Amino acid sequence: MIVTIDGPAASGKGTLARRIAAHYKLPHLDTGLLYRAVAAHLLEQKRSLDDAAAAAKAAGELELDRLDRGRLSGAALGEAASRVAAIPEVRAALLKLQQDFSRRPGGAVLDGRDTGTVIAPQAEAKIFVTASPEVRARRRLQDFAERGERVPYEAVLADIKKRDARDAGRSIAPLQAAPDAVLLDTTELDIEAAFRAALSIVEAVRAGRGRS
Ligand code: DC
Repeated sequence: MIVTIDGPAASGKGTLARRIAAHYKLPHLDTGLLYRAVAAHLLEQKRSLDDAAAAAKAAGELELDRLDRGRLSGAALGEAASRVAAIPEVRAALLKLQQDFSRRPGGAVLDGRDTGTVIAPQAEAKIFVTASPEVRARRRLQDFAERGERVPYEAVLADIKKRDARDAGRSIAPLQAAPDAVLLDTTELDIEAAFRAALSIVEAVRAGRGRS
């Protein structure tokens, strides 16, 4: 079974994907980390984030088992990742890696912006997670605080709105719900309630397929 969970920044999709993957004992890929790793590489090399050739080269050399979530999850890299994610050559270079992951025997859980639309349109269970920008900004603030990063609420909210506009407005693989995705609005839900809702969406799909 392939499960895709897409949605805007800080919607809770990553936490839900991790928990769904653990529940069904499926491998999980946080596809945002790939774009973050490309951006981190360019910044380290002191390259422009608009350097399509350097970005595509970095994307082509990525290795999934060498992605360091701790290093890549910082505040600044989200914005930088959103910029490199709009470069078509970067998306093309990362496509096969993600598609191969989605086709692992037994299935996989992927989360990101285009996993249900472009990476694995054949996925059995697709969830599109949303939440108001204000609630997402508060959650992100909490994540940063836990990492020891101090960022003002207004700056986090502005970053989220800017990223939403860029991720949804780009011409290639924009952030959008697949026509067959189930919408899950987590604005009023805590993580436990959101997990139960996501689980029941996946369980409904499994019931329809004879629980395979
Ligand atoms: O989910 P995240 O915040 O780690 O993602 C960082 C950026 O990467 C996001 O703003 C847009 C981009 N991204 C993408 O374009 N497609 C994906 N499947 C995942 C992330």
